[in-house]
Amino acid sequence: MSDNSIILNRAKKVAAKEALSFIHSKMIIGLGTGSTAEIFVELLAKKFFSEKLDIQVLSTSSLTEKQAKSLGLPLTKIADVSRIDLVVDGADETDMNLNLIKGGGGALLQEKIVASNSEKMVVIVDSSKVVTRLGKYPLPIEIVKFGSKCTLKQIENTLLELGYSDFSINLRKENDDYFVTDEKHFILDLSLKKITDPYILDKKIKKVVGVVETGLFINMANLVIIGNNDGSFKLIEHRG
Ligand code: A5P
Repeated sequence: MSDNSIILNRAKKVAAKEALSFIHSKMIIGLGTGSTAEIFVELLAKKFFSEKLDIQVLSTSSLTEKQAKSLGLPLTKIADVSRIDLVVDGADETDMNLNLIKGGGGALLQEKIVASNSEKMVVIVDSSKVVTRLGKYPLPIEIVKFGSKCTLKQIENTLLELGYSDFSINLRKENDDYFVTDEKHFILDLSLKKITDPYILDKKIKKVVGVVETGLFINMANLVIIGNNDGSFKLIEHRG
């Protein structure tokens, strides 16, 4: 592991550890996806056994489900619960209004479904994820496989109509093949550099036939916990 990733890991762990303070018995908890969420799941399993917590967890991806299962956490499914009290998830970017870019790990659809059905969404990030304006990180868009090249073209046109000029769109690959999500879709990564209006962008892209979801999580997070390398953390709460 490089020095940089050791430092990043430390910051992720600070945020993940702080998120444990939101966990109580009787809760149904959504587990996010990605390296920060992975640290949280590990810490949650320790807390679960040491405090003999009465909780249930459900996952936002097959990867996290595998991890939760291997750690012995009591897994349930979204279809089997009538509420989700809290979801704890990472993000690829957050702005100061708690609008997020997610989907770098390819799990944006299940993450968004769980987040939008949760009472509370707590986001855990290291400080490198905090930006003044979203868009430095490529925006993932989940699309159906059928007509994927046409969908890409339509998104390109939508971006041009919205005034974006300096952008590129890539159909995500993994090991020389196209990346396929848990829901058997493709992902387009939109390198926009700067998103001028995340609300409008989300709305317009979702109108393109073939688009399943965007990685823009707008007005969903209630709290972002930012971990720093020196072991300190900062909370940003939703104003609404
Ligand atoms: C998964 O699809 C993403 O939404 C992740 O939450 C995001 O990529 C953050 O991952 P890291 O914690 O690994 O940076």
